[in-house]
Amino acid sequence: MALQRGDRLAVLTSGGDAPGMNAALRAAARVGVEMGFDVVGVEDGYTGLLEGRLRRVDLGVLDEAARRGGTVLGTARSKVFPTAQGQARAREQVLATGIEGLLVIGGNGSLAGANSIAGVPTASGRELAVAGVPASIDNDLACTAMAIGVDTAMNTIVEAIDRIYDTASAHRRTFFIEVMGRDCGYLAMTSGIAAGADAVLVPEVDKTEDDRIEHVVNVIHRAYEGEAARRRVLVIKAEGAKVDLNRLKAAVEARIAELLPDVDTRITVLGHVVRGGSPSAFDRLLGARLSNAAVRGLAAGDTGFMAGWLGAGAPGPATPFDPNVVLTPIPTVLEETAKLMRGETALAQWRRRVYREVEPIIAR
Ligand code: F6P
Repeated sequence: MALQRGDRLAVLTSGGDAPGMNAALRAAARVGVEMGFDVVGVEDGYTGLLEGRLRRVDLGVLDEAARRGGTVLGTARSKVFPTAQGQARAREQVLATGIEGLLVIGGNGSLAGANSIAGVPTASGRELAVAGVPASIDNDLACTAMAIGVDTAMNTIVEAIDRIYDTASAHRRTFFIEVMGRDCGYLAMTSGIAAGADAVLVPEVDKTEDDRIEHVVNVIHRAYEGEAARRRVLVIKAEGAKVDLNRLKAAVEARIAELLPDVDTRITVLGHVVRGGSPSAFDRLLGARLSNAAVRGLAAGDTGFMAGWLGAGAPGPATPFDPNVVLTPIPTVLEETAKLMRGETALAQWRRRVYREVEPIIAR
């Protein structure tokens, strides 16, 4: 049943924070208030939900927060929530807090959490209406062309690589730069191409460690000795590519020592730097548009869906609320995401093919 004016709509952020979550929150609150809902925020994701930690949303605070990374509500990866005990506690809290709707802003695990409590009984005797908005810097979710946070993370990585480029060129060095992305190479590949990297090691291109070493050694020889006569080599490694950077560095150094004795190598792990910072304009708008469609979907009687951005990998047709947004049942999103990560979807296969095609092109 559709959310009614006066119904309490809770919003939570969950899993790894992503720049743009606050902008999504702000839009959910503003649109929800405009539609007559009693919008409340849940602190610290599902952990806070289990403890009944709800707070009023202050639109002024959210206006300020929308320009910032992180999440003003706090986030968590609750270990208790998925357990039988956690689920029972969640049902109790849905009744105790009087929420009729729940909007979850987060990644795959967060959507699985939303799915697990969709439809539980509410205090008014109805079923809990649930919606999801994808937010994860990894871009590892199906049924959305982009997740909130990806664009900002990509820009942060490109800026970091640009800086490393300067010092690498000054010293004629080779840098190995590791970037986040969990099991997905999207961030590493897109930022590597944008920043002019010479090689990108991603989990989607399945290679042995020896093959990866061989590839990097070839790239280095070609770069410093070939016609291009480069003064730097930048190798981007996705977090999920199974190769130990220290071992890779040592092996590569040993292989180039004779012909290129003056070429030093260094490692930079960007780590959580990639997840912070002010959201790009695109991520702010993406958050706003996805939340807007999600809240309107709940008001129209849709439930158990994720609002995704139309484009590669996202099914159509668009929702009437926004020509770029599609609402997909969360169980379908979870299933398609598992297939994406196993390399079984058309998008995953396209990515694998393109990643292989790109390899020799950027190594020139
Ligand atoms: O899913 C987002 C992400 O930043 C991944 O890229 C990374 O593998 C993971 O979260 C890190 O998680 P944590 O902040 O819990 O160390």
